[in-house]
Amino acid sequence: MSEGSAAGGPAPGGPAVERVVVADGAAAAAQAAALFADAARRAVAARGRFVVALAGGSTPKAAYALLADASLAGGAALGPDVWGATHVWFGDERCVPPDSADSNYRMAHEALLARVPVPAGQVYRIEGERAPEDAAARYDALLRGEAVAGRDAAAVREGAAVPRDPVGAPVFDFVLLGVGPDGHTASLFPGTPGLEERARWAIAVAAPVALTPKVPRVTLTFPALDAAREVMVLAVGAEKRDAVRAALGGGGDMPPSGRVRGRERTVWVLDDAAAGEGRT
Ligand code: 6PG
Repeated sequence: MSEGSAAGGPAPGGPAVERVVVADGAAAAAQAAALFADAARRAVAARGRFVVALAGGSTPKAAYALLADASLAGGAALGPDVWGATHVWFGDERCVPPDSADSNYRMAHEALLARVPVPAGQVYRIEGERAPEDAAARYDALLRGEAVAGRDAAAVREGAAVPRDPVGAPVFDFVLLGVGPDGHTASLFPGTPGLEERARWAIAVAAPVALTPKVPRVTLTFPALDAAREVMVLAVGAEKRDAVRAALGGGGDMPPSGRVRGRERTVWVLDDAAAGEGRT
């Protein structure tokens, strides 16, 4: 494993971006699960709860599976004390029903949430089955602790789900993100108006042109992502190499994934293929 820092980014004065590079996808999943578990334990010990936003796509599935595997001695498995204090949000969702094979919620549910003792009332999914603008508005309201018709989210209304900073931004303890080959993260796509959003925490975005599934999305925005304590970006495979280089290279053409900064920590977990440091 090699560790270092990458220059660049729009948040001068914040901590440098860390890079953790491991041999392959399995090692990246183990590293990601370990960082997730460590953040969860620290958050519960310090503040009595762990507020996390999960990533979609396919890459995090292996990390979720490790987190769900209580049989792994010395592994990332967390106890019921931690899961019971965990509040689960999502960085983005495809506008499909929750039982669709394309649903980020479904992936996270099957790989992780159905297999750990996180209370169902502490899982706040994006309602991909609704019209995009409606789903985004309802998710934004939920994040703000407002009552949302038809949603049982008592913990949100009691202010127990997402703490706020002094200016009112939602403070996730840990945000897990992926990267697309075009440099997108969550559903913040290069060159789209959502990148400029400064007020809303969740917005609807049009279906991406060059990515499947070609359906509209709902995504957290930079103001929500950047208010997080810790951000972990997970990228695996050679098809991510150019995007990783653009994001961490410090050049002028910064893709959305390279712009996200956690307040206390931003760490990219990469395998050699994504990092461009092939080992022979
Ligand atoms: C989504 C995402 C997206 C994803 C990247 C990487 O819903 O598609 O949240 O940002 O993380 O596209 O996806 P893969 O892990 O499938 O490569």
